[in-house]
Amino acid sequence: MTGWLGNAYLWVKAFHIIFVIFWMAGLFLLPRYLVHHQEALGTPEAVAWEKREGTLRRMILSPSMILVWLLGIALAANVGLFDGQPGLGWLHAKLLLVLALSGYHGWAVGYSKKLAKGQGNIAPRRLRMLNEIPALAAVLIVILAVVKPF
Ligand code: HEM
Repeated sequence: MTGWLGNAYLWVKAFHIIFVIFWMAGLFLLPRYLVHHQEALGTPEAVAWEKREGTLRRMILSPSMILVWLLGIALAANVGLFDGQPGLGWLHAKLLLVLALSGYHGWAVGYSKKLAKGQGNIAPRRLRMLNEIPALAAVLIVILAVVKPF
C-alpha cells in the first residue's frame, strides 16, 4: 500500500495537521477547565464548567481525535507501515506517544465526568502539573514526525 494516497497525499497530510491543531487546542483547554471546575465544586459555577467541558468534548475533542487517527493511519499506510517498510522507527515511537496522549484524553474526560458528580480527589497542585502533559507530548511527537531522527 506504499504511496497509495497518490496525489491526495499532501491534502491528507494538510488535514491531518489541521485536526492535530484542533485536538491539541482541546487538550490544552480541557485540563485547565478541570482545575477551575474542581475549585468551583459546591458552587453554582460548577454547573457552568460542566457544560463548557461537555461542549468542548462534543464539538472539538472527540471529532478531532477521531479524524487525526483516521488521517494518521491513512498516512501510515502511505509510508508503508503495514508493508514492513524499514526506517520507520520514528513512526513506531510516535504511535506509542499518540496512544499515551489518547489515554490522557480519556483520563481527562473521565475526570470531568467525576467532577460533574462532585467527586474531585486530585490535589490542586498535582492537577496543574498534569496540565503540562499535552504540551510535552506535542513537542516530542512533532520532533519525531518532522525530524524523523531514527
Ligand atoms: C493519531 C495517530 C497519528 C498517526 C497514525 C500519525 C501518523 C502520521 C504519518 C504516517 C505522517 C506522515 C509522515 C510522512 O508522510 O512523512 C504524519 C505526519 C505528521 N503528523 Fe501525525 N500521526 C498521528 C498523530 C499526530 C499528532 C497527535 C501530531 C502532533 C501532536 C502529529 C503531527 C504530525 C505532523 C506535524 C506531521 C507532518 C510531518 C512532515 O511531513 O514533516 N501527528 N503523521
